Amino acid sequence: MTRLRRVCGPEDPAIQEAAAILTSGGVVAFPTETVYGLGADGLNSKAVARIYTAKGRPATNPVILHVADAASARALVSCWPAEAQLLVERFWPGPLTLVLPAADAVPTIVRAGGTSVALRCPAHPVALGLIRAVGRPLAAPSANRSQHLSPTCAEHVASSLGEAVDLILDGGPTTAGLESTILDLSRLGARPRILRPGPISPAVLAAMLGPVDLWEGAVVTGDQQAAPGMMARHYAPRAKLELVPAGTGVTESSGRVAYVGLGSLTALPAGVRGVLLPLDAEEVGTQLYALLHELDDAGFERIVMERPPEEDAWVAVRDRLRRASAKETA
Ligand code: TXA
Ligand code: MG
Repeated sequence: MTRLRRVCGPEDPAIQEAAAILTSGGVVAFPTETVYGLGADGLNSKAVARIYTAKGRPATNPVILHVADAASARALVSCWPAEAQLLVERFWPGPLTLVLPAADAVPTIVRAGGTSVALRCPAHPVALGLIRAVGRPLAAPSANRSQHLSPTCAEHVASSLGEAVDLILDGGPTTAGLESTILDLSRLGARPRILRPGPISPAVLAAMLGPVDLWEGAVVTGDQQAAPGMMARHYAPRAKLELVPAGTGVTESSGRVAYVGLGSLTALPAGVRGVLLPLDAEEVGTQLYALLHELDDAGFERIVMERPPEEDAWVAVRDRLRRASAKETA
């Protein structure tokens, strides 16, 4: 049985226990403000390799190093541009990951063989307490099987990764619900580029930095490009997810079908489970993964969801839904 320990704040003894496991090369799942991470000592290649095995993650997909402060981040890069300083002063701790040229100290496996490193300082007392207790950066992707839904509570981690994890720190449900915004500052002299939209919006970043590109491409598994982890299909529930225009509804109810409305719920045939989410991007971001997990666990085969508005505020939710509804490739 996977061990799950409830933690209540940065002084909880469970954090010391988790730190000891990490120091000796183990893997521990822990809460952040976005999703749960699967952590290992980020300077220990063998420990990081265990993350890849546990997740079934392709070796071409690098992992984020989690740090407790900006000074620790600076020690892991070969260059710290003025934009990085500006951004971390405003957003760290918080859901912003920066991609920068890596220092030699960053193990090859963390970078997936590339020359950059992704850095993030999570705004969660348990995550920060754990990083400080270990005294080293923690490599941590989302704590789910590769290409599946990210976990927003400890139970999601246990059902996705089970025995592959030495310990799960249970800090309750996460608050932001979608993974951090990833901003690429590694191409010196080039425009900053958002590799993954998230809780910190393109508009907020552009207001600080000037024009910012939004990378909306997708790569196929195993093909290492600008954003190696941005697979076309990702963040996917087991159920088939379809996106439809607002108010469409469904006509048949064969199989187990759930319909998710945004802001209002249209009339549905008997037997179709209707779910109403508010027309509020932040709120939907917080609830989305938990809802998809719940519908999966309840055995729904088809989830029909209304497509969110085209407005900027919805960019992160739209991105996740696009990937979650993309057709399975290989
Ligand atoms: O909110 C989050 O960012 C969560 C929590 C646990 O911190 N972490 C997370 O990690 O979502 P992961 O591994 O599931 O997603 C990180 C993404 C991957 O798509 C990966 O390819 C990309 O970041 N990434 C990591 N290092 C990179 C690098 N050096 N250059 C470009 N992309 C990178
Ligand atoms: Mg992930």
